[in-house]
Amino acid sequence: MSIQDTLTDQERLAELDLPQLRKLVGLVEYDDNADPFPVTGWDAIVWAVGNASQAAHYYQSAYGMELEAYSGPETGNRDHHSYVLRSGAIRFVFNGAVDPASPVADHQRAHGDGVTDIALEVPDVDRCVAHARAQGARVLEEPHDVTDEHGTVRVAAIAAYGDTRHSLVDRSGYHGPYLPGYVARTSTHVRRPGAPKRVFQALDHVVGNVELGRMDEWVDFYNRIMGFTNMAEFIGDDIATEYSALMSKVVANGNHRVKFPLNEPAPGKKKSQIDEYLEFYGGAGAQHLALATNDIIASVDAMRAEGVEFLDTPDSYYEDPALRARIGEVRVPIEELQKRGILVDRDEDGYLLQIFTKPLGDRPTLFFEMIERHGSLGFGKGNFQALFEAIEREQERRGNF
Ligand SMILES: [Fe+2]
Repeated sequence: MSIQDTLTDQERLAELDLPQLRKLVGLVEYDDNADPFPVTGWDAIVWAVGNASQAAHYYQSAYGMELEAYSGPETGNRDHHSYVLRSGAIRFVFNGAVDPASPVADHQRAHGDGVTDIALEVPDVDRCVAHARAQGARVLEEPHDVTDEHGTVRVAAIAAYGDTRHSLVDRSGYHGPYLPGYVARTSTHVRRPGAPKRVFQALDHVVGNVELGRMDEWVDFYNRIMGFTNMAEFIGDDIATEYSALMSKVVANGNHRVKFPLNEPAPGKKKSQIDEYLEFYGGAGAQHLALATNDIIASVDAMRAEGVEFLDTPDSYYEDPALRARIGEVRVPIEELQKRGILVDRDEDGYLLQIFTKPLGDRPTLFFEMIERHGSLGFGKGNFQALFEAIEREQERRGNF
């Protein structure tokens, strides 16, 4: 193996190119020869939800995703429904229990709708598992082949924070729609006239919330077991409102396709948003997924038209002269950002535009971020204060503050 500067099959199918990916998700070249645990990119985000049949509809209508594969009772899977949806280079898999004894039902009962598996594409499953085991990882599934008429997938799984796992997938020998057992299935949903071709093109990062005092343990897990390196962004307890705070560090794989900010609560006078998450999720888990778009204005407008709700940003955020001085020139007039509540952050490499949705499900746990990068490889540190205040207003409305 050598310098990885090639597209993944998913990116090729999505008609993305390298310059676009460098801009969209901050892809960098790196040499995976010295990497003890080479990761190519995301394979899939797998969810356990209370009603996958309806979730599949929602992510098609509101998030513009396309259905591409299915497994369920009609295909011999009597345990659960499973809908595979795609937008650009990323696939989401929504599982909902059919059998009341399904593990999907157990996960949903414990956590509400949530992410069960952040599955990663790797070139050598056995090498990764051997390294992870030697470093003390909990191996949930030994490397094994899964085969059907479309070929063979080699897969294994290791435990991550909470009940979350990382499946490690090598699908280089497979040409089916997703995994053996799945059949190809296409959308019946009809897009609104004028809707963008895609609301998002790729997955940028997945944030994990972990328990108080355990952030460094998980940073160490990704460093030592998975060969990830630390990115510059570090949020200490200097980022806090009067009442609640968090600590955050970011780890990334060699090519930066996979980025994991890790948060832990910091003590405050009142319950922080991370504490609220941990209480309602029932422990550590994925907190938000950042979806990369090359036109956040069009994405947000399309999502709003379908009823997606975003966090409000106070007008004072845009009117603050310090903000205007900090962000400088961006590609859209600030009034257009203000109209939609889109936040701006700038660092030495460039800037980014971002906005956060309200919680996706019934519990105040998971949400999405929409992100449009222009050179910045950050995560919106400069917006934490504004974001915190917006989240706290929502917490207060829920009576959890
Ligand atoms: Fe984020």
